Amino acid sequence: MRRSKISVIGAGNVGATCAHWAAVKELGDVVLFDIVEGMPQGKALDLAEAGPVEGFDGAFVGTNDYKDTKGSDVIVITSGMPRKPGMTREDLFEANKKIITQVVTVCVEHSPDAYIIMVTNPLDTMTYLAKHISKFPKQRVMGQAGVLDAARFRTFVSMELGVSVEDVQALVMGGHGDTMVPLPRYCTVSGIPLQELMPGDRIQALIDRTRDGGAEIVKLLKTGSAYYAPAASVIQMVEAIVRDKKRILPCSAYLEGEYGLDGIYFGVPCRLGKDGVEKVVELALNEEERELVRVSAAAVGKSIASLKL
Ligand code: NAI
Ligand code: 2OP
Repeated sequence: MRRSKISVIGAGNVGATCAHWAAVKELGDVVLFDIVEGMPQGKALDLAEAGPVEGFDGAFVGTNDYKDTKGSDVIVITSGMPRKPGMTREDLFEANKKIITQVVTVCVEHSPDAYIIMVTNPLDTMTYLAKHISKFPKQRVMGQAGVLDAARFRTFVSMELGVSVEDVQALVMGGHGDTMVPLPRYCTVSGIPLQELMPGDRIQALIDRTRDGGAEIVKLLKTGSAYYAPAASVIQMVEAIVRDKKRILPCSAYLEGEYGLDGIYFGVPCRLGKDGVEKVVELALNEEERELVRVSAAAVGKSIASLKL
């Protein structure tokens, strides 16, 4: 049986770490592409040489030639600038718009049937751009953000309560930016609602920390942004697709009426399986949550409009 082919565009921090997680999980053969000569080749070879130690098989190709991505099943796009201290994700708009326009155009020529998972920021806007350029159906173009944002919320809850991260479930909706919408009402610890375990002011502090989670790491790293948790989050989405797991994961998905929103990419719970974004799950949000979604959607809509497509 043919193994899945996963191409990762951009072999920097997030891209290379995606390749690492995909290799360890044996999700398929991995192609690592970058414009920097030698770097993706070096990282792919280094990763292949970890195989005998960790016990994973697979082909790992590093390349500067898009022909090597031909026939990919999944394309993960991480190429572009990360932010530096003091920058917002929106500050990356102009530079990354150019890069994503070029990258998506070439990728889809070589892999017309692929699923595209966008990572480059500003995430929801770049995902919209990728759909526009690829002309792929909405089920095959999605963005990673919600898995990461929810993972941050889960981490902070587990730290606060002194419980295993495995027992903490959480949901974060909305744009991947300062207006993201962590939903404490949908956070549980082994089925116990968070509100029964923590006072409201502590929950609010963890929500605030989640919203600032990316910036907290940028501030510490000083030269770039987070990559371990982002890459793990991307690979959870890739795994859901290539193994048809039917996971319910928050993804940036194209909305056509769901949550009262139309024609934007926005973080919502989705069912991910072999057909990509198979379904958007619509929650019965309360009034306060709906207002937060409205504010976040307005911010994402403004950014998408500035693409001037
Ligand atoms: P990085 O700087 O480590 O890697 C980016 C790579 O893209 C570099 O190796 C660069 O050579 C390559 N690149 C630039 N132009 C290219 C082109 N035209 N074609 C192919 N490759 C090209 O950055 P990092 O940390 O990997 O972040 C990548 C992007 O992902 C950033 O925009 C960052 O903001 C975003 N990000 C998004 C997250 C999310 O949750 N959606 C989480 C973390 C990062
Ligand atoms: C993050 O949230 C930079 O978007 C990236 O870490």
